[in-house]
Amino acid sequence: MGIDVWERRDPAARPDAAPAIDPAAPVSGLDREKSVIDAGGVARGSEHARRVAAMNWEDLARTVRTCTRCPLHETRTQAVFGVGNREAEWLVIGEAPGAEEDRQGEPFVGRAGQLLNSMLLAIGLRREQVYIANILKCRPPNNRDPKPEEETACRDYLERQIRLIRPKIILAVGRIAAQNLMKVDTPIGKMRGRTYSYQDTGIPVVITYHPAYLLRSPLEKRKAWQDLLYAKRVFAGHA
Ligand code: URA
Repeated sequence: MGIDVWERRDPAARPDAAPAIDPAAPVSGLDREKSVIDAGGVARGSEHARRVAAMNWEDLARTVRTCTRCPLHETRTQAVFGVGNREAEWLVIGEAPGAEEDRQGEPFVGRAGQLLNSMLLAIGLRREQVYIANILKCRPPNNRDPKPEEETACRDYLERQIRLIRPKIILAVGRIAAQNLMKVDTPIGKMRGRTYSYQDTGIPVVITYHPAYLLRSPLEKRKAWQDLLYAKRVFAGHA
């Protein structure tokens, strides 16, 4: 991730430096439970939602691989289900597969994926230790932003993955993942440094920038480093 350099250059990026927390934040620390934002979405209560909510890993993976609920299935090479330790303590959620992910069938395997791996290693996590999934399982053409109806069509799958894994923390990378997961339209800059909670599970959700954005804006890596340290503290129960 190249963060060793950031540590030396900027005292604010030291491991003991707290991330900027807006006192007006709706959530954080002891107020966490008040922050629960229902991310149930439109599909909640639908027949599809009920079926998916009862699936085991194998049924879920097969259903995703053969899904035709939105037009993205017409342009995908393959659906990208998710990868990693199904008993992971850390769940990383991104936006949607890109070209390389669509080709290989695995999330975060392109350049952004390499940076994500480095970000995780920087806080002592190997890629194989965590679980990595996306909001959308199929690649939007030309990597355009997901459409609301695509997010709705895909939502039950990620919800089921979260409930099967029961991670101790969710790290949402990027605006799309953060806003979609928490059902808000808050700018990502305002979501950083706060602890959200996933639905009724009490699983803390911490937000950071998307690695693809960090590749384009390397100066923002320092903030991402602060976010990762914050996430580690939340994970340890110290934030
Ligand atoms: N960007 C994402 O959000 N997810 C991927 O899997 C790859 C790139």
